[in-house]
Amino acid sequence: MEYSFPHYLLAKQSVDDRALNWHVYQTLLANLPAGPIRIIEVGAGIGSMLARLLRWGTLSRAEYVLVDEMDENIQYAADWLPRVALELHLHVEHPAPGQLRLWDASHDVLVTFQTADVFDFIHTRPAPADLLIAHAFLDLLPMPASLGELFSLLRPTGLGWLTINFDGVTSLEPTIDSALDQHIERLYHHSMDTRPTGGDSQAGRHLFSHIRSVGAEILAAGASDWVVHAIARRYPLEEAYFLHFILHFFELSLRGHPDLDAAQFENWLAQRREQITRGELVYIAHQTDFLVKLNGSNSV
Ligand SMILES: C[S@@+](CC[C@H](N)C(=O)[O-])C[C@H]1O[C@@H](n2cnc3c(N)ncnc32)[C@H](O)[C@@H]1O
Repeated sequence: MEYSFPHYLLAKQSVDDRALNWHVYQTLLANLPAGPIRIIEVGAGIGSMLARLLRWGTLSRAEYVLVDEMDENIQYAADWLPRVALELHLHVEHPAPGQLRLWDASHDVLVTFQTADVFDFIHTRPAPADLLIAHAFLDLLPMPASLGELFSLLRPTGLGWLTINFDGVTSLEPTIDSALDQHIERLYHHSMDTRPTGGDSQAGRHLFSHIRSVGAEILAAGASDWVVHAIARRYPLEEAYFLHFILHFFELSLRGHPDLDAAQFENWLAQRREQITRGELVYIAHQTDFLVKLNGSNSV
C-alpha cells in the first residue's frame, strides 16, 4: 500500500464529520460575530476544515488563512479547494499568488495559503483574527507554552475552536491478545508523549487547565471521539484507507522499539490489517473539542 499523508487527510474527513462535537459547534455558531470575519487555521493540512465549513454553510463572508508547515499539504489544498468550490457552484478566482477567492451572491471567501511553521508565522505578526481554528493539531505541540503563542493570533475577544484533541484512549477490537494489545497501546501513547517536537497523549483533559492558565474562558467542551466500523462488512467512503494509515502510524512509532518483540509486532500488524480487509476492525479514539474565548484583558 502506498501511504500518502494528503490522502490520509482526505480519508479522515468523514470520520471527523461524525466526530466533531455538535454542542461545541452550535456554541461556535451562536458566538460568531456578524459580518465578515477573519479566520486563521493552524496545522490546516489540505484545507479539509475550510471545505467542511463551506459544505456546512457556516461561512459567508470571510478571510481564511490556512497555515501548514508541509508544502505538500498546502500544494494539495491549492489544487483541491477550487474543485470543492466548483462542486458547491461557487466561482473561483486567483486574485494573487497564494490566494483564492470563492464567491457567489451570498458568499465571498478570500483564502490565503501559507506554508510555514506556525511559530514562524506568528512572528510575522499577521493581522489579528476573530477565530482561530486548530483541528487535530494541539496534541502535537508543547503545552501550555504553545497555547499563549497561538492565542496571540487573535484579537482581544477572539474565539478559538480547538477540535479533535486526543485524550488517552485508543481501542482496537476485536482483541488479538489482551496483554499485547494493551502493551502496544501503552507504548503508542508513550511515543506521543516523548516526540522531540512536543505532544501529549492526554491533551484533551489537560487543555481544560492549559486554556485557563492563559486567561481564556471555555464556552463549550465535549467529546469528539473517532468511531470507525464497517457496515455490512464495508467501511464507508475511504475509511478503510484511514484505518490502514492509523496502523501505519503505529508501525512508524513503534518499529524497533526495545520493549517490543519485532516478530510479535509484525504479526500483530498483519492480523490487524486482515481485520480491516474482512471489515471486522473497530477503531475508537477518545478526543475532546473546545470553544474558547479570550477575555479581552489577558496578556497573550
Ligand atoms: C494531524 S494533521 C491535521 C491536519 C488538518 N488539521 C486535518 O485535520 O485535516 C496535523 C497537521 O499539522 C501540521 N503541522 C505540524 N506541526 C506544525 C507546525 N509547527 N507548524 C505548522 N503546521 C504544523 C502537519 O503538517 C499536519 O498537516
